[in-house]
Amino acid sequence: MKRPEELRSHRWFGGGELRNFSHRARSRQLGYNPEEHLGKPVIGILNTWSDINPCHMHLRERAEQVKRGVWQAGGFPLEFPVATLSETYQKPTPMLYRNLLAMETEEILRSYPIDGAVLMGGCDKTTPALLMGAASAGLPAIFVPAGPMLRGHWRNEVLGSGTDMWKYWDDKRAGLIGDAELSELERGLARSPGHCMTMGTASTMTSAAEVLGVTLPGAASIPAVDSAHHRMAAASGARIVGMVWEDLTITQVLDKRAYADAITTVLALGGSTNAVIHLIAMAGRSGIPVSLADFDAIARRVPVLANIRPGGDWLMEDFYYAGGLPGLLSRLTDLLHTERLTVTGRTLGENLSQAQVHNDDVIRPREKPVAAEGGVAVLHGNLAPSGAVIKHIAAEPHLLTHTGPAVVFENYPDLKKRIDDPAITADSVLVLRGSGPLGGPGMPEYGMLPIPAHLLEQGVRDMVRISDARMSGTSYGACVLHVAPESHVGGPLALVRDGDLITLDVPSRVLRLEVSDEELSRRRSEWTAPAPRFERGYGALYSEHITQADEGCDFDFLSRAGHNPEPDAG
Ligand code: FES
Ligand code: MG
Repeated sequence: MKRPEELRSHRWFGGGELRNFSHRARSRQLGYNPEEHLGKPVIGILNTWSDINPCHMHLRERAEQVKRGVWQAGGFPLEFPVATLSETYQKPTPMLYRNLLAMETEEILRSYPIDGAVLMGGCDKTTPALLMGAASAGLPAIFVPAGPMLRGHWRNEVLGSGTDMWKYWDDKRAGLIGDAELSELERGLARSPGHCMTMGTASTMTSAAEVLGVTLPGAASIPAVDSAHHRMAAASGARIVGMVWEDLTITQVLDKRAYADAITTVLALGGSTNAVIHLIAMAGRSGIPVSLADFDAIARRVPVLANIRPGGDWLMEDFYYAGGLPGLLSRLTDLLHTERLTVTGRTLGENLSQAQVHNDDVIRPREKPVAAEGGVAVLHGNLAPSGAVIKHIAAEPHLLTHTGPAVVFENYPDLKKRIDDPAITADSVLVLRGSGPLGGPGMPEYGMLPIPAHLLEQGVRDMVRISDARMSGTSYGACVLHVAPESHVGGPLALVRDGDLITLDVPSRVLRLEVSDEELSRRRSEWTAPAPRFERGYGALYSEHITQADEGCDFDFLSRAGHNPEPDAG
């Protein structure tokens, strides 16, 4: 157990130096008497609430419940607003800013008198960003997931955010519904605070956080507006105070086994392909090498048990009632490292001792999985020397072995202009380049290229699509993503021409451009690098330091080993 004089914040508030005196005077200015905070753990609540983020709109108020728990446990809560990354509104994509929030998180924790951190996030990139920063800072930290929004509704249908937006937009383009229906759908798709309630990136990453051991057990599945979410927030606030006294840091929780378990869980959830990039980046911050090969190897032995859209039938609210993530994990214990320590101070296995499944269709038994193999396959070949990924369980099976002629789009505006070209057939392989970490920039979620309208009208709902982009976790289809190296830096994707044959062979994990090496080197000698996307500012910093998708798209100077000294606070 730590003593009060050993608290990190003591360096600011204790002691008899001029600066200590000044810090105490200023906490009186904040409105606190010394006995209210001196000698207590200072808990920094890093909150990604913002007026513009509908997924986090309840977090402003929820921070009050976290504070309630901190006070009750004898801590001193201080809330820090940090950048919000709103998947819906931030352009070109919040992925451009994930590392910025990670840097902000790390530096706030480093530079202020914080003994322990509560991280509040959930909308897609916020979870990895907060955890990357906290892992680098190395203090005790607990994550409070924002929680999924309630099910969507339209007429007699249950709607999934994202997933049904894509589906009904295709229906509109195919002429099956009109403006009146669309306007009703607009009102029903997202009807409460909380992040997307399909198994998109948000639910995938908050579930990953839970199995990593940095949330309270069961936290990730609680709907944002359920009163259990208030209680979880208060309990997290209380727990972080205990973690500070026990000196239980995030570094002790996030070990190699934790990341292996996170990969296992993401795959069993049929989770978002974005998790591949985020978990590689997060593990990098913990000094643990995780590669694409780890995902492919684990995927081959982990079945998909969560029957949640877009890969399945249900939504996160149903998952919660069915037993939530603890229920799912209780069916995977032989594949997990249950002896690992978590933020509760107990092991993962101990946290799961009461876990139950209440609905075998939502959380499938091992002998009746949604898919026998995990949701991600890693592809290699001359079109993706450093790898590419496909969520093959969300694709039409006949496309998983396919050879067809390429139709190449230089970038997203070009795609929008020409996608309805009547010359495109259902056999064509749609190729989008210029959408990677540098080219996009920020690897926008363009990876589910739209199906041409004339093919939609003929009933075609899936085609082979290839890009250096990412895909929303709520999307589906035979979409090969994260092709690395990206076209912008001269990856082979830059050399594809209309009509070239491309072979996708998922069972063999192959992505091949059927063009000879000689022809490819001839094309490469004619290739010129595009101009940089940014001339100054954060974008220029990003462009100079971003790594490729297979390396997690962290900044090289953030993912490397090394130690920064504690600031002198006296
Ligand atoms: Fe925030 Fe989907 S838009 S999680
Ligand atoms: Mg998303």
